[in-house]
Amino acid sequence: MGFIQLHQITKFFNQDFKPAVDSVDLDIEKGEIITLLGPSGCGKTTTLRMIAGFEQPSVGKIQIGDLVVHNDSRSLPPEKRGIGMVFQDYALFPHLTIEKNVMFGLKKMNTREKRKRVKEVLELVGLDDYGRRFPHELSGGQQQRVALARALAPRPHVVLMDEPFSNLDAGLREKMRFEITNILRKANTTAIIVTHDQKDAFAVSDRVVVMNDGVIQQIATPKEMYRCPKNCFVAQFVGKTNLLTGTLCQDLKHVDTHIGKVCLPQRTENLLDQVKVSIRPEGCHLVEQGRYTGKVERVTYSGEYQEVELRLPSETGVAEPMVIYAPVEQEVEVGSVVSFDIKPELVALVD
Ligand SMILES: Nc1ncnc2c1ncn2[C@@H]1O[C@H](COP(=O)(O)OP(=O)(O)OP(=O)(O)O)[C@@H](O)[C@H]1O
Ligand SMILES: [Mg+2]
Repeated sequence: MGFIQLHQITKFFNQDFKPAVDSVDLDIEKGEIITLLGPSGCGKTTTLRMIAGFEQPSVGKIQIGDLVVHNDSRSLPPEKRGIGMVFQDYALFPHLTIEKNVMFGLKKMNTREKRKRVKEVLELVGLDDYGRRFPHELSGGQQQRVALARALAPRPHVVLMDEPFSNLDAGLREKMRFEITNILRKANTTAIIVTHDQKDAFAVSDRVVVMNDGVIQQIATPKEMYRCPKNCFVAQFVGKTNLLTGTLCQDLKHVDTHIGKVCLPQRTENLLDQVKVSIRPEGCHLVEQGRYTGKVERVTYSGEYQEVELRLPSETGVAEPMVIYAPVEQEVEVGSVVSFDIKPELVALVD
């Protein structure tokens, strides 16, 4: 059983509409870093706020450690739940020094213990020399680390962070992904992070929870999620993909599609006739004599790779669009006909 458990959590803001969060079941292990990932309005923040106790579920049960923090008959206030919250805008007190900001959440300690704990967590986030400064004298990334230090100071059971990277520019964002995970690991804390950015989610979490329309679509490690997306929504939301429909072959290992036979990574247990396959652009490699051929429509250079948009001849007569990635050093000319192979490891059947 998980250290944090959400059981059938549902939230109606308005009884006439469908719920903002719908029957969410989630088990989180101690020390795990989990992200809630999904498009705007899918219910991430609402879920986080219900765990924190800022919002009441309409139905369901939430347990943190041994403590039932919410069920039909009782609901503990946020300060009784053993959570540390990092808000999107950090919510530091501008008129208090960094030390005082961090000390704020420490209630049941004497002054000496408080000082010691503040020093510890400021060291943990690498800001031990900044205690006397005020928030406005710190950079965005530093302010965020202060907010995290403040959340960690009372040794909460779980740290909750809503969009921790959204206020940061691209460079700092990448750095902070690394630093935040490092700090959370060192503090040995369980954490739930909300983000709408797949890169953030993949970089920081043990497992990712993809949500859409208030419903959990898939819970998996980043690698599983990318390689074996469960349905079309996940396949398209998490990275780029090509979705093709086809018929499952008798060997249960190939799918007959408009562009030809596509090999699956292993035999499937799926017994449906008509299926959908997701083929990742990274799984397609330009080669001299590949199994598939297509005409190059467009090439977009990203620096790390080239995104090549192809049109493939298809049985239906309508050319099938397909996106593949090519290494930057490879010459790919618009209008030329190229051939490629598909690696089965990056092919998945989806619902
Ligand atoms: N206090 C509220 N009253 C009424 N509806 C609300 C309230 N808070 C959220 N909602 C609705 O619930 C749904 C989920 O909102 P939520 O804030 O959880 O989304 P989100 O996934 O965090 O989106 P974003 O990525 O934009 O922050 C939305 O349709 C939103 O309009
Ligand atoms: Mg939100």
